[in-house]
Amino acid sequence: MSDAPRIVVLPGDGIGPEIVDAARRLLDSLGEFEYDERLVGGCSIDAHGIALTEEVLEACRAADAVLLGAVGGPKWDTTDPEAPRPEQGLLGLRKGMGLYANLRPVRPSPALVGSSPLREERIAGTDLLVVRELTGGIYFGDSGREGDAAHDTCSYTAAEIERIARTAFEAARRRAGSSGRDPRVTSVDKANVLETSRLWREVVTGIAPEYGDVALDHLLVDNAAMQLVSRPADFDVIVTENLFGDILSDEAAMLTGSLGMLPSASLGADGAPGLFEPVHGSAPDIAGRGVANPLATFLSVAMMLRHGLERPGEAARIEAAVDAVLAQGLRTPDLAAGTLATPRMPDVPAEIEAGTAEMTDAVLAALGA
Ligand code: IPM
Ligand code: MG
Repeated sequence: MSDAPRIVVLPGDGIGPEIVDAARRLLDSLGEFEYDERLVGGCSIDAHGIALTEEVLEACRAADAVLLGAVGGPKWDTTDPEAPRPEQGLLGLRKGMGLYANLRPVRPSPALVGSSPLREERIAGTDLLVVRELTGGIYFGDSGREGDAAHDTCSYTAAEIERIARTAFEAARRRAGSSGRDPRVTSVDKANVLETSRLWREVVTGIAPEYGDVALDHLLVDNAAMQLVSRPADFDVIVTENLFGDILSDEAAMLTGSLGMLPSASLGADGAPGLFEPVHGSAPDIAGRGVANPLATFLSVAMMLRHGLERPGEAARIEAAVDAVLAQGLRTPDLAAGTLATPRMPDVPAEIEAGTAEMTDAVLAALGA
């Protein structure tokens, strides 16, 4: 048997297959990997009637890491509570693999600072990490329809809160070790209204003394949404519950100028396989046209190498290669939108529109692969 890492690859729907193919080219340029390609999401509904089969979940549990493209599309959109939905595939993987910690780093690439919707002086220096609780809260509580009423329930246990808080404190420490800045955790809740948030705040505050070297503050979620756009560079690690993390991570992602740039890692217990995916989703409107931005998937591959396969050196090389192609001026249409028309400074290379293949070629060239 070869000792190549075994990666379950889940291309999914929409642009998923295109960006995952690009990611495989990237991985192949780094070394030997064994791939096991499976269905999840809408394509699995079409083939099996459900978004995630037990067999695929088992394969994921047995892998060294799981790489996912994206799931969903208008074909499967429905409000019928009985109909299968592609997102159930993703939620089933998170729950079934025990992936309670979702890490979404937001670090605008220097070349893209000008495409942020925020002014450059506001965005400069932004380098934050959203740590989102991923297997609890309203996403997984009791829900249902009773005639013309419906309900969703949010519940958390102290143990669920404690383990994600520890992930955040430890991430802050690790980041400080490599950046030299003072570690800080901002815990986000809605403690002025929600009981789960009051428990959240109590538990986070309770373990904070064990991380005396990490500063801790608390923000209410509405205030956090506002602070994120008014002073993004002041944040280090943000830890929050599932739904708030979903919303704040999209907001934080837009700071970079494109949701198309944000990678993510979903991690469970030590030693268990993680799941790595771009945050941007399946973009059905551009699927199959060869113009999807593969960079968030490449950055997700970097997270897979760092957090899942203990190959931090290659992770850093990929991140540097992504910055390099952006600095060369290459832009997929999602990145170019709005900026191609901007007058350029003489020392900034003119932007070059690239498709998925050109972008991938350029990253491989920058890697020296
Ligand atoms: C995300 C997505 C998912 C979520 C959807 C597709 C279920 O928005 O990963 O942020 O809400 O968690
Ligand atoms: Mg989301």
